[in-house]
Amino acid sequence: MNVHDSEKVRGTLIQKGYQQVHAVEQAGLVLYNTCSIRDKAEQKVFCRLANFKKQKAAGKIFGVLGCVAQHKGTEIFDQAPHVSLVCGSASYNDLPALLDRVEAGEQRVEGLRLDTDDTFETPLTRRDNPYKAFITIIEGCDKHCSYCVVPFTRGPERSRSSWSVLEEAERLATQGYSEIQLLGQNVNSYCDPSATGMDFAQLLAAVGRVSGIRRVRFTTSHPRDFTPDIIEAIDDNPVLCDQVHLPVQSGSNRVLARMEREYQREEYLECIRLMKHARRDIAIGTDIIVGFPGETEEDFEQTLSLLDEIEYDSIFSFKYSPRAGTPAANYQDAIPDTEKSRRLALLQEKQRRIQLRRNSALIGREEEVLVEGRRERSGQWIGRTTQNRVLNFSAPRADLSELRGSYCRVRVTGSGPNSLVGVLVAKEAAPAFHGFRILQ
Ligand code: 5AD
Ligand code: SF4
Repeated sequence: MNVHDSEKVRGTLIQKGYQQVHAVEQAGLVLYNTCSIRDKAEQKVFCRLANFKKQKAAGKIFGVLGCVAQHKGTEIFDQAPHVSLVCGSASYNDLPALLDRVEAGEQRVEGLRLDTDDTFETPLTRRDNPYKAFITIIEGCDKHCSYCVVPFTRGPERSRSSWSVLEEAERLATQGYSEIQLLGQNVNSYCDPSATGMDFAQLLAAVGRVSGIRRVRFTTSHPRDFTPDIIEAIDDNPVLCDQVHLPVQSGSNRVLARMEREYQREEYLECIRLMKHARRDIAIGTDIIVGFPGETEEDFEQTLSLLDEIEYDSIFSFKYSPRAGTPAANYQDAIPDTEKSRRLALLQEKQRRIQLRRNSALIGREEEVLVEGRRERSGQWIGRTTQNRVLNFSAPRADLSELRGSYCRVRVTGSGPNSLVGVLVAKEAAPAFHGFRILQ
């Protein structure tokens, strides 16, 4: 979501006459987009700002965007006086006006409104990837997980109208994009504000019908709002990818209750059962937090047993990080950091073995991949399967044609915990790309 926000901010700046440069040294204006989901990310921001300080002398203007801007607010001006602008994501529509003030020499310009009904959209979004595009469908979050800072930094849920989402998808398809990832903190609470009144599953299916779009993914979903019609939509429409990310956070009902996740292990397992019984072979991913306050060894064992029971295809796992202003930050029964690290290592090792096993079961299969790039050293192409697995593959020596952006059939010949390897079976001509390409 942050990456896509940066793409939109970039479009907003270009519309205002700015040009993008690729190094801070070359810039007159430096906007730093930030994440505050865990403390480490937030600390990094302040280190980075201190490094930028030396460059203020060169007449540069600095701004801080995103969740740290929203969370810390004007405190940032005190801690880093060389910063002239702080702006949270709910106020990005105000950025052009805020920048006018900064350009006029104003020192402490803030955009910290959360009381907005808007989502932040611009037709000029400058996307990084020429084949796969993010589209925001909902911003903010109305859940109140006791550990999470997002409802405070991104504000309440606001859905974007279905016609505007579909219009953007159609425009992207004409520009040569073939994969779309629908984004939101909680996409399945999507509620169309327009008269069409689509729910999430209907919107998903509608995006899947846009001519030229060959793949549609979505992140992220909340188990509480996960309904069978999402699986039915995937089953019915081959354009919808065989992949669902459904954060569980913990396998223990006691911890889930203290996290205020609004579901129990059994209800979560029911969502998983629906996916496993789908006609399509859906890859399942999740997010897990270890070392939540009061998490006993037995609670943690239940998370480990959930991994064995579900056999996820991928997980993102984190040590619990207390966030100021959230209820859990006041819980007294903190777990020592060394213990959190031990649990995280155990969890990740278990998952590594599961992924090794699951990936090796794919050897011999033929997969369709969207080719995203090439490793110059090994000459291998990098593709992604509908299940979002990375599949690196080689093509016959004689075949030097450009494959980026095309869909190829690849036979899987080997596997590791995080990726597959294979050989090209059949290729398709790369589509002409008419969009904007940022050189990295
Ligand atoms: N500490 C650790 N992980 C967190 N996440 C959210 N808040 C915290 C926190 N305070 C994780 C959750 C969420 C993912 C995006 O980040 O697992 O799903
Ligand atoms: Fe945070 Fe919970 Fe909302 Fe996800 S659903 S953004 S974890 S409050």
